[in-house]
Amino acid sequence: MIRLQNISKVFNHGEINEVKALQNIDLLIERGSYLVVVGSNGSGKTTLLNLISGAERPTSGRIFINGTDVSSEPEYRRSKWVTRVFQNPFTGTASDLTILDNFRLAALRTKSKKLIIGVNAAFKKKVKDCIAELGMGLEDKINLPMGSLSGGQRQALTLLMSVMDDSGILLLDEPTAALDPRSARLILDLSDRLIKQYGLTAMCITHNLKDAQEFGNRLIQFQGGKIIKDLDQEKKSKLTVLELVNWFE
Ligand SMILES: Nc1ncnc2c1ncn2[C@@H]1O[C@H](COP(=O)(O)OP(=O)(O)OP(=O)(O)O)[C@@H](O)[C@H]1O
Ligand SMILES: [Mg+2]
Repeated sequence: MIRLQNISKVFNHGEINEVKALQNIDLLIERGSYLVVVGSNGSGKTTLLNLISGAERPTSGRIFINGTDVSSEPEYRRSKWVTRVFQNPFTGTASDLTILDNFRLAALRTKSKKLIIGVNAAFKKKVKDCIAELGMGLEDKINLPMGSLSGGQRQALTLLMSVMDDSGILLLDEPTAALDPRSARLILDLSDRLIKQYGLTAMCITHNLKDAQEFGNRLIQFQGGKIIKDLDQEKKSKLTVLELVNWFE
């Protein structure tokens, strides 16, 4: 569960280029919900995700994760709860390391070291089995460097890592923007399946209104740093793509 309490974020406060990126945001995201976020460029979507992950600090307001006030927790301390997938597939993983080592690193972020020191056979098998479920044939390539994979393959593996490390909260910032249509579909279907299967709390920013209509069980729209629309599952299920397009007129 994520709770944002009266969150504001001002960049360049008091200067000529001051930006009120977020203004008095109150938002409760229940455990297990899959929140889709839409809004024009510069409306504050990424800033919101940065505040939740700890990459940025709010100018005012508080942030709670699973009931704990994390407002002053640095990003590396929040990583046991929060994982992110970015627009650029190269941001989420280390190119020079093998697929297996990338999974080990991801696991190290959240788990106690004694559980996973070394590449023991059980861990390797768990990684292989999980990768095999993707149906991309990558389970036989776990000793190859991550850099040898395509963007879509890397996004798929980044998603898997975020699930395997038990963090519980998944933040996706335009995860398919750099992918071809087929890979984009694969990543969205995979996200959907993993979110349901593992009961993750997820937020996904997208500019693709068809995807916004199809995926998730709650939909919010940002404009000028404020939430101007908030549809629950029932209302969202009745929303057409055309109606959604009209939100941006
Ligand atoms: N580090 C920063 N310093 C100054 N201004 C910033 C910074 N980060 C974001 N902003 C400004 O805050 C506003 C919100 O930016 P944000 O990145 O959250 O928008 P967004 O909704 O994610 O847009 P997009 O759809 O283009 O990704 C913008 O006006 C942006 O220029
Ligand atoms: Mg953004």
